[in-house]
Amino acid sequence: MTTIFVLNGPNLNMLGKREPGIYGTATLDSIQADCKKAAKSLSLKVDFRQSNHEGVLVDWIQEAADNAKGIVLNAGAYTHTSIAIHDAIRAIAPLPVVEVHLSNIHAREPFRHVSKVAPHAVGMIAGFGPLGYTLALRALAARI
Ligand code: DQA
Repeated sequence: MTTIFVLNGPNLNMLGKREPGIYGTATLDSIQADCKKAAKSLSLKVDFRQSNHEGVLVDWIQEAADNAKGIVLNAGAYTHTSIAIHDAIRAIAPLPVVEVHLSNIHAREPFRHVSKVAPHAVGMIAGFGPLGYTLALRALAARI
């Protein structure tokens, strides 16, 4: 079965309680459940993870090179700052990475308009809340 890593960065473990006006009320557990359900219908297997630590995310991106056929990545705030994550995505090329954000980062503060993930992602889905994750899985399934 084709495995996709769904990787979540800092503060996404707080979903449900965190700024619901921006991020909604869905929890990360419910997003994981949505992903597992969507994956089943796409004949994919999802390995869903979250870390608040940049280096752990880098380790998982590297691990995906051997253990996955693609990555759905919501790097949280590291999206805007992490050259290490940018380099990790480059290092595992051509493994496809789809960037996801719950909120529309381009409609928010200017510091969120820059993504260090985007230059090496196959695409970005932002602003559709939890739906973005399952759309990203569909995009990867179509590409693989
Ligand atoms: C986010 C957007 C980021 O700017 C923010 O730092 C997050 C969540 C999103 O999913 O909308 O933590 O990635």
